[in-house]
Amino acid sequence: MFKIQTLNKIDPDGLKLFPLDNYEIASELPNPDAIVLRSFKMHDVEIPSSVKAVARAGAGVNNIPIEKCTEKGIVVFNTPGANANGVKEAVIAGMLMASRDYIGAANWAKTLIGQGDAVPSLVEQGKKNFAGEEIKGKTLAVIGLGAIGVLAANAASALRMNVIGYDPYMSVKHALKLSREVKVVEGIQVLLQQADFITINIPLLPDTKGYINKDKFAMMKDGVKILNFARGGLVDHADLKVAIESGKVGKYITDFPDEECLKLDNVISIPHLGASTKESETNCAIMAVEQMRDYLENGNIKNS
Ligand code: MLT
Repeated sequence: MFKIQTLNKIDPDGLKLFPLDNYEIASELPNPDAIVLRSFKMHDVEIPSSVKAVARAGAGVNNIPIEKCTEKGIVVFNTPGANANGVKEAVIAGMLMASRDYIGAANWAKTLIGQGDAVPSLVEQGKKNFAGEEIKGKTLAVIGLGAIGVLAANAASALRMNVIGYDPYMSVKHALKLSREVKVVEGIQVLLQQADFITINIPLLPDTKGYINKDKFAMMKDGVKILNFARGGLVDHADLKVAIESGKVGKYITDFPDEECLKLDNVISIPHLGASTKESETNCAIMAVEQMRDYLENGNIKNS
């Protein structure tokens, strides 16, 4: 009998793949063999010595103390790609929100309540006030050509955008094989200089903390629109504030609300909804459970 501790609510369509005659699953139980979690921060808790494996139903592993796990011989799994479609759709929605003020316009439309005969002329006014721009023909720069970056690039290309890409961890030769829609460029400067929109799709690592900083903002076009559905820490917020206030950054759409960012105009913060879809939750849970079972039952490690 394997004991699995869940530190977050895990999608039941994944969890049910643990056969109950062989597995005991609970949010609290003594001496668990393994842990399955979503975004619970494990850094501050003691990991029981019985734990052999940790599976994150999600892509990023920055909520897991990888070094500590490695020292203790604990295998860590994640589910890269399993929620990539959900995040890709969020990136495209973010890009559309950055180019048309749908949120402002929808809030403004509420003021029409009770305006009676004045509504048609007010609507005409609203049409002028909330006029936006189209994304067709604009250049999208994709930083990070993993599963999400490539899907976002392909979707943007289908919307007739020019898509350029760069990955700090990949050779141009390898990156070129991933998508026919992306024009892969040699360096970040070339990429940033051309972009009307930028989507950041790299992991948060010690090396990438504050990756988008004042030096990178200086390379960008004035009024550039930036989408961050990866991790808040990838952008230096003090430098972002300056870049927004100077008009260098026209819009910043982030999936990571932060006190400072929430105060800024031209920032739209979303409460980490990129992968919050039924489909993504299910796909991640299934992949996490399948990997965990394969490890516990057969000793196989497919992704760690
Ligand atoms: C991920 O790391 O998979 C995404 O940020 C989604 C999430 O964790 O909610």
